[in-house]
Amino acid sequence: MPAHKPAKPSRAEVEKLRREIEEHNYNYHVLDRPTVSDAEYDALLRRLEEIEAKWPEFRTRDSPTQRIGAPPAEGFSVVTRAVPMLSLENAMAEEEFRAWRERLVRAVGSAGEGDYVAEPKMDGVAVELVYEDGTLVQASTRGDGVNGEDVTPNVRTIRAIPLRLMHPAKGAKPPKTLSVRGEVYMPLADFERINKKQMESGEKLYANPRNTAAGSLKQIDPGVTATRPLKFFAYGIGSAEGTTIRSQWDLLQALRRWGLPVNPLSKRCQTIDDAIAFHNELEEKRPKLPYEIDGVVVKVNDFGVQEEAGTRSRSPRWAIAWKFPPQEARTRVLDIEVQVGRTGALTPVARLEPVRVGGVTVSNATLHNADEIEKKDVRVGDWVFVRRAGDVIPEVVAPVKELRKGSLPKFKMPEKCPVCGTRVVRPEGEAVTRCPNFACPIQVRGRLIHFVSRGAIDIEGLGFKLVDQLVTAALVETPADFYKLTVDDLIPLERMAEKSAQNVIDAIERSKHTTLPRFIYALGIRNVGETVAEVLAEHFGSIEALMEASEEELSSIHGVGEVIAQEIRTWTSVAGNRKLVRDLVKAGITFARAPRATSTELAGKTFVFTGTLTKFTREEAEAEVKKRGGKAASSVSKNTSYVVAGENAGTKLEKAQKLGVEVIDEDAFLRMIRR
Ligand code: IVH
Repeated sequence: MPAHKPAKPSRAEVEKLRREIEEHNYNYHVLDRPTVSDAEYDALLRRLEEIEAKWPEFRTRDSPTQRIGAPPAEGFSVVTRAVPMLSLENAMAEEEFRAWRERLVRAVGSAGEGDYVAEPKMDGVAVELVYEDGTLVQASTRGDGVNGEDVTPNVRTIRAIPLRLMHPAKGAKPPKTLSVRGEVYMPLADFERINKKQMESGEKLYANPRNTAAGSLKQIDPGVTATRPLKFFAYGIGSAEGTTIRSQWDLLQALRRWGLPVNPLSKRCQTIDDAIAFHNELEEKRPKLPYEIDGVVVKVNDFGVQEEAGTRSRSPRWAIAWKFPPQEARTRVLDIEVQVGRTGALTPVARLEPVRVGGVTVSNATLHNADEIEKKDVRVGDWVFVRRAGDVIPEVVAPVKELRKGSLPKFKMPEKCPVCGTRVVRPEGEAVTRCPNFACPIQVRGRLIHFVSRGAIDIEGLGFKLVDQLVTAALVETPADFYKLTVDDLIPLERMAEKSAQNVIDAIERSKHTTLPRFIYALGIRNVGETVAEVLAEHFGSIEALMEASEEELSSIHGVGEVIAQEIRTWTSVAGNRKLVRDLVKAGITFARAPRATSTELAGKTFVFTGTLTKFTREEAEAEVKKRGGKAASSVSKNTSYVVAGENAGTKLEKAQKLGVEVIDEDAFLRMIRR
């Protein structure tokens, strides 16, 4: 029997199908009232996909099938806007909110006395969406207000954001050019789900939904953004030109009619008391909301009055962000466990009866050290207040002493290491209790993991799990042992095949070409972080010189205090450590020389290279930066000017995205140095 061949649909039929899909999208993402099942929706979308695949003439950029496109070749480019995205002045308490209103009344007279719009202050990422003739053409982050990053391909993947605006039957039509402003956010449940997955696969946890949303928006690959459950609420426009809308309240209604999600909790408030009541009610609702908010934004409703009030340099006089205090919850301490880190430090952690704090379930809180527990007097069985200050790692504020029944035993740090049983030590005047056993299995693993980590010697593909297997199989005991591994050693390990084993061996081989600061940092000397390692490398120029340095010489170096000098000297005088350095050098580790600067083109700029670079080696790139007076660092901080991301860039890229550091690709870097 001949296969059934579907007939070519007419343009009108395709358009009808598209409208239907868009409407379901709107009902689901904007109104939160789906009218069809997911399966029905998927079937419609699949049909459209099939039609567009078969008859490409029907394909359009604003079709609901076209959410994921190719990554921008140039990384993120800069968008400069004519109407800057302003920030808001904060009020932390009712008096400050009232003071704002008094200033407003002084500026605009009785028109400022009432008629406000109060909106939840979304704790997400501000973006601007530009629609031309109703089609989404550009999306950018706030940046410094005037210059933002073009994140269009990523924003297109957010289903709550229409690719085409709706033309409502009644009310104002969208203007020819419309720049919508709003907040991209990640719902709490999705955030928790993602973090649970991270934890199960032994990956790093995300700090909070806001950072995760920001990181997701700044993915180089929109395919990755598409997997992140981002949502959006619109709350304003760049300019009201071409519209007849004259107030914030009417604007919110119009945005909703045009197909954009608007927070349904927003409320028109006639008097200041209404606004205060709104704030207090929302604060009560806050723990139950499915997303994070950090306050209320109160805006003057009438655009004419807004204009009269005007703006100061960075924030309008006609709006204020009245913040909520940090979120606290009460729960019980089920246990206090002690964890041992790479340097042997013992950290007490409170295991809590799971409690929702600000929408996130909290079941552990760090108690830092023995002094902290002593000071707070937290005991197992206590009721305690825990607080989240935006981040996931919560803290125990204090126990509720009135609820302590009878006498609970005081917490005592164990006398023996919970891992290896060695008697622990706590040097006089120090807060940290340590396991002094250098061979403590957890310390051994910790040192090896530190050695291979990205900021250190950077062996790709060697993570916690593999290191753990290597130690268990007695294949590796010190970092020098990595360089003796063969493919045959690795193949018998879990989840290893010939190819993956070869990849690991290749990565180990590549790691032999490193830099002196990375090598020093990789040794894992207590208190020698990446910055100190750079200072030491600069001063000594070779590992041999560092190994022979006296405590005096060390402490005379700017940036190396007495404590660090002593730590280094203690480390370098241990025979096993001296042997480790010799073995590593014998294994073939070499250091790229730090070149002298010959120009100042990149003076004051710090670069971090990450991922697999294909056009140059990391050492070459770092040398180019240094030649031009710039700095190359191995870890990303807020002082980083650029992160140059190669293929498969991982945690550093994420960190850059979290901190809002500019990310460029290799080509952009080459253009920068060839200018
Ligand atoms: S209005 C001039 N409305 O808060 C008006 N902002 O601290 C500027 N935000 O950058 C913004 N929810 O990212 C406005 N309902 C809301 C908001 C809101 C969250 C953020 C926005 C802005 C920041 C200012």
